[in-house]
Amino acid sequence: MTTWDQAALISPPIRPMRGPSEPPIVNPIEHPIANQRVRLGIMASGSGSNFEAIVQAIHAGQLNAEVTVLIYNNPTATVVDRATRLNIPAICLNHRKFATRELLDQAIVEVLVSYQADWVVMAGWMRIVTPVLIHAFPNRVLNIHPSLLPSFKGSKAIEQAFQSGVKITGCTVHHVVTEVDSGDIVMQAAVPVLTNDTLETLQARLQIQEHKIYPAAIAIAVGQGIIEN
Ligand code: GAR
Repeated sequence: MTTWDQAALISPPIRPMRGPSEPPIVNPIEHPIANQRVRLGIMASGSGSNFEAIVQAIHAGQLNAEVTVLIYNNPTATVVDRATRLNIPAICLNHRKFATRELLDQAIVEVLVSYQADWVVMAGWMRIVTPVLIHAFPNRVLNIHPSLLPSFKGSKAIEQAFQSGVKITGCTVHHVVTEVDSGDIVMQAAVPVLTNDTLETLQARLQIQEHKIYPAAIAIAVGQGIIEN
C-alpha cells in the first residue's frame, strides 16, 4: 500500500510497465540511493501551497529530503509566512532589483549553492528562468505547471484550458529546460473540467492533485522511487 493516492495519476501508473532502458522504481528500504537525503532549494512567487505540500510530505516520511532554503521574488508573497511557520530559511530576491533575468538567476544560484541545495524545485515560480540557473543544476531543476503538458504552455494555463472547452485538464511535473514548459515529464495528474466549474473551483481541484503529485514526482526524479510504508 503506497502512501500516495495514485488513483489520479496518469503517468506513471501504480506499477508501470517499464521498458528495458528505463530505470526501475526502487524500494527505498532495499536501495541505498533511496536512503540518501536530498537537499532541496524551493523557488516560489505566491501563496506557496505546493511548497508546504512538499514540506509536509517530508515530515510524513514520503520523501527523503530536506528543504534547505526557500527563495521568493515577490516581497508580498505569502509563501514567506509558511516558511516562517515551518522553520525554513526564506530569502527574498526581488526581480525588480535585477537588470536582467540572467543577473537574477545568478543571484538565485549563489543562494542555492550557499544553502547546499542538490535539486531546485520551482513551486509556483512565475519568472522565466535562463541557462544561468538551468546549467548550474544540470537535470536537477523541476517545475510544476497547471495543465497537461504539452497542452497550454505558458502563463494563465488554467484559463487557457477553461476557455478552450477541453473536458480534461490537469497538472504536470517536468524537468526545466530553456524552452518554457518543455522539459521531460516526470508525472501528471488528470482533472476533469465539470460543467458547473468556475476558474476558481477548477483551480482548487487542480491544486489538490498538484499537492499529491509534486512530492511523489520529486521522489521519482531524484531516484527514490515511490516510498512505501
Ligand atoms: C500552481 O498552481 C502552479 O501549478 C502554478 O502556480 C501555482 C502556484 O500555487 N505554476 C505556474 O503557473 C507556472 N507556470 P502555490 O503558490 O499555491 O503553490
